[in-house]
Amino acid sequence: KKILFVASEGVPFIKTGGLADVVGSLPKCIDKEYFDVRVILPKYTCMKQEMKDKLSYVTHFYMDFHWKNEYVGVLYAEVDGVKYYFIDNEMFFNGFKPYSDNALFEIEKFAFFSKAALSILPVIDFRPDVIHCHDWQTGLIPVYLKERFQGSDFYRGIKSVMTIHNLKFQGKWGIREVQDITGLPDYYFTADKLEAYKDANLLKGGIVFADAITTVSATYAEEIKTAFYGEGLDGLLRARSKDLRGIVNGIDTDVFNPETDKNIEFNYNAMNFRKEKIRNKRALQAELGLEQDDKKFMIGIVSRLTDQKGFDLISYVMDELCQSNVQIVVLGTGEERYENMFRHFDWKYNNKVSANIYYSDALSHKIYAASDAFLMPSLFEPCGLSQLMSLRYGTVPIVRETGGLKDTVEPYNEYESTGTGFSFTNYNAHEMLGTIYYAEKIYYEKKREWNKIVDRAMAADFSWNVSAKKYQEMYDWLIG
Ligand code: GLC
Repeated sequence: KKILFVASEGVPFIKTGGLADVVGSLPKCIDKEYFDVRVILPKYTCMKQEMKDKLSYVTHFYMDFHWKNEYVGVLYAEVDGVKYYFIDNEMFFNGFKPYSDNALFEIEKFAFFSKAALSILPVIDFRPDVIHCHDWQTGLIPVYLKERFQGSDFYRGIKSVMTIHNLKFQGKWGIREVQDITGLPDYYFTADKLEAYKDANLLKGGIVFADAITTVSATYAEEIKTAFYGEGLDGLLRARSKDLRGIVNGIDTDVFNPETDKNIEFNYNAMNFRKEKIRNKRALQAELGLEQDDKKFMIGIVSRLTDQKGFDLISYVMDELCQSNVQIVVLGTGEERYENMFRHFDWKYNNKVSANIYYSDALSHKIYAASDAFLMPSLFEPCGLSQLMSLRYGTVPIVRETGGLKDTVEPYNEYESTGTGFSFTNYNAHEMLGTIYYAEKIYYEKKREWNKIVDRAMAADFSWNVSAKKYQEMYDWLIG
């Protein structure tokens, strides 16, 4: 059985967020005895040179697109047993970053990508049974499959899955322009198909026309059927709820393994974390210029700095939080207001707060290894991967009970002595602060209890084993 992933980013080639981690790790974990899984990605010029060096030219042709005949180059690479194809077109995939701020250009870019991904299949002689699409960038694939390609024997009967990694991003623009770009007939631009609130909406198209819909946690699958989380598409998702399932993400447990991780100073495991995490903490304090103190309660934050991640709560109580006996280490980039907020507190509480406003894989691993707790008070969270990485590194997550955070972090219960982290319910800054204080109290006053939380966190299994099986079951069900 043949499965094709199509996505706009994937580790180790290109990454801006969690989507890339999933696209880079899930295909490796699909059972190769039964499934031939391949992946199509864009060939961005901003890919690292060492990755570009791995690609080899396969072929090229010209495809009718928008008002032109566009160049479609095909490249190929095999990494960790997974076969990748890349679509090359320098007019669309040029630039320092994979995505631009020009929404209309993004729509044109990914309409091109979606159509090209389908068009290369006969050329590379791969007819998938299922095309697994990820996020709005590939939302047109189920639509094109129904329209353009249904007349041909090659495409007839191919099933599609639409996975929603983040419902907030939908790829919308005026109907006239989108119709112009996609060449789809009027039929598709009605409220029961691509049209939503007077715009054309690519993700909506994917959701309407895909044979199955998934999202990345069971709780988020429920939440998006409500108005608060539904981003305007909750009605549609309720209507399709029979075909919508939540499958929680896993992480690559080889990459995220404190025992073998080359990014961290001192490797450790569930037996020796008590000593070794402290040595990592000491090293990080030195590297970032924080007060050298083994005992300080260190809170890590590694995140895209967007409102999704709950930074409004943090900024509201940051002064208060810094009055208590903590150190806070932040890594990430994003919205300027949050970048500046953290820079400000780094300046104000210089030996307590370290704001690192850039992205570094190596530093992120050091933060997971060194911190005692990891803060993630998201407004919404389809799955969230950093709390899983934290758990694996014995760093206790403090999260808001939403989406995947709710499904993967079991709240500490001091009476039962259970749980792997701390959580709060409402999107409220003082509720968050109270939960941080509670964690801090356990850390300082009940160290043995704290260490048992760490034990349980490190023992939790967030590999792909279970979830990959669920995807396989879904593929089997679709193929029939
Ligand atoms: C998006 C979501 C995040 C999820 C990731 C991978 O980045 O915001 O919650 O973990 O996609 O599915």
